[in-house]
Amino acid sequence: MAAASAVCAATSSLVRLRAQPAPPPAPPAPAPAGPFKLPPLAYPYDALEPHIDARTMEIHHGKHHAAYVQNLNKAVAEFPDLGSKSVEDLVRDLAAAPEKIRTAVRNHGGGHANHTLFWQLLKKNNGAGPGGDLAKAIDAKFGSFSSFQQEFTKAAMGVFGSGWAWLTLDGKALRLETSANQDSPLSQGRAPLLALDVWEHAYYLKYQNRRADYVAAFHSVINWDAVAERYQKLAA
Ligand SMILES: [Fe+2]
Repeated sequence: MAAASAVCAATSSLVRLRAQPAPPPAPPAPAPAGPFKLPPLAYPYDALEPHIDARTMEIHHGKHHAAYVQNLNKAVAEFPDLGSKSVEDLVRDLAAAPEKIRTAVRNHGGGHANHTLFWQLLKKNNGAGPGGDLAKAIDAKFGSFSSFQQEFTKAAMGVFGSGWAWLTLDGKALRLETSANQDSPLSQGRAPLLALDVWEHAYYLKYQNRRADYVAAFHSVINWDAVAERYQKLAA
């Protein structure tokens, strides 16, 4: 009986051992401190529903944009002087970045600058378009606002793979352009007025492969007041 009890106790200990819950995963390493910070969104994640869904915004801002910031901080860690520049200045003059980190500044600095601008240009517009001088400039360049919308859509659909569609200022002239990856028009000496992220991470959860639907929806969430304000400031 004693032997049987001992076996029973041992078995029971084994069961208890096996029943121990697995330890929780180690928390992720804290993001390295650095000069560049993820700017908070000025609106809730669901502010652009149903055109851009809350979950996409949460991941896009909190994971993708945050990763660009984190990787930019890593890149500049051994060049403290760069931390005193704005990310826009870094991207504007890539040649000034140390060669060792130039590609990282182009990709992650570009990603940080592009997304920071993108968030500021989004707001449900209920069909309203631009006004004031920007409206006149768009009419003069594209013939009409509707033609601009078509041209912008065509540009965004024409980006092969990951990239951006832009309305920029080339000097004082409006220009439609696209860029690959996280390249910014700033690096080409132009000033972005309007930006559309056409990386799949910007739309895949809701639209899967239907970029056309995402681009169509984007026209409903362009904050034209913010774009017009940029035009007033940058074209002056
Ligand atoms: Fe993005």
